[in-house]
Amino acid sequence: MSLSDVGIEALAVALPRRYLPIEALARLRGVEPAKLTVGLGAREMAVPDPGEDSVALAATAVQRLLATSGLDPARVGLLAVGTESGVDSAKPVASFVQGLVGLPREARVFDVQHACYGGTAALLAASEWIASGAADGRVAIVVAADVARYGARTAGEPTQGAGAVAMLVSERPEVLALDLGVSGAFATDVHDFWRPVGRREPLVDGHYSIQCYLDAVAGASRGWRARAERRGLVTKGAPASAQLARLAYHVPFCKMARKAHLHVRRTELEDRLGRPLDADELAAEDAAGAASFERQVVPSLELPARIGNTYTAALYFGLTSLVRQGGPALGGQRVGLFSYGSGCASEMYSGVVGARASEVVARAGIDDLLAAREPLDGEGYERILALGAGEPLDEAPAPGAFRFRGVVDDKRTYARA
Ligand code: HMG
Repeated sequence: MSLSDVGIEALAVALPRRYLPIEALARLRGVEPAKLTVGLGAREMAVPDPGEDSVALAATAVQRLLATSGLDPARVGLLAVGTESGVDSAKPVASFVQGLVGLPREARVFDVQHACYGGTAALLAASEWIASGAADGRVAIVVAADVARYGARTAGEPTQGAGAVAMLVSERPEVLALDLGVSGAFATDVHDFWRPVGRREPLVDGHYSIQCYLDAVAGASRGWRARAERRGLVTKGAPASAQLARLAYHVPFCKMARKAHLHVRRTELEDRLGRPLDADELAAEDAAGAASFERQVVPSLELPARIGNTYTAALYFGLTSLVRQGGPALGGQRVGLFSYGSGCASEMYSGVVGARASEVVARAGIDDLLAAREPLDGEGYERILALGAGEPLDEAPAPGAFRFRGVVDDKRTYARA
């Protein structure tokens, strides 16, 4: 049983039209392919053209959510977009989405920005808005939408991607009922990854960012564990993470989820012993940790491996993967989620997968969206990379999708198929 009747009722996604197989990037840059496939765990990376900006991706995902869930838009009392690739310093992505999709005017409409954590901050705020009674019977739509772009020939280049996940949040959590009140937050002021106003690509201290993420996952998982033990969701004394059916971590690149999971387990063991593990204990934990990663975490990596980093959306592509891979058998089971946003803020929380979750998620038609994508070669990728932010390719939107068309009279314009 979850600790609340609030959570994700349905979801829908948007993906860019094109992707680059990661071996093609390795060839283009003269890098050993295994460094990217094995070292980072990468497989394919979504490559958006400037027509597929965060507004177009978010609006496309919301439009699909309305179509597949049958939701009456008049019931939406809150629309929140978590993004770190907004298109305007004042006007939120959420306002564009409201207008493009035709959501009610009598609603709270806003963006949440905190690097990759923004989607989670929006989801938890929306869920608590409903649980508090302030929603007065209305529902919320939360969108995590981002374009993850790094400079050409930088260490971050193989970790790009783009996409959006739109979630209907309500008192009918058919996908995931949240354990509201059972979460661990951890935040510090660090410069691990940042993007000063006006810059298209972030500045990154890559190896330091991995350490910041690991410090955060240790702190956040401790907070979640303490509350989960107090509320009786996990048994005290036994490793808490092992009592979850599955875990999804923020995925900047797939190997990071492995590092995170091993770190959570080691933190739990060392906290219990009150000292660092010795060499024998470390060797035993290496083997047990690897097996538990395969069982508990690998199912969350299906879509992140096909799309790449999607910043705010990465964790929610991970959750979607868990539900797809788990099928009906995952219904009724508790899963853990860890969200990390550089800068940094993070949170670990949990929830119970709904009995019909895999059926509901199947309505998002993700296999068809993946199958419709076009692979790029190195040359095609370079051509898209060279386009200016205001220079979308001159092509029609895909069915049901929105596209940025350019700036007219200082205003961004969008088209829908
Ligand atoms: P790098 O320095 O080029 O790579 O960039 P490396 O030398 O560290 O190698 C990476 C891994 O490949 C290593 O494995 C190597 O051993 C292995 P590890 O030691 O980590 O297990 N390797 C090989 N394996 C097999 N065959 C080979 C081979 N060669 C090497 N031939 C880095 C890596 C992640 C730093 C870079 O991609 C980067 O800067 N990425 C962007 C930053 C990032 O993703 N940080 C993650 C944590 S911060 C975060 O998640 C937040 C974020 O999403 C933003 C937000 O919040 O908004 C980024």
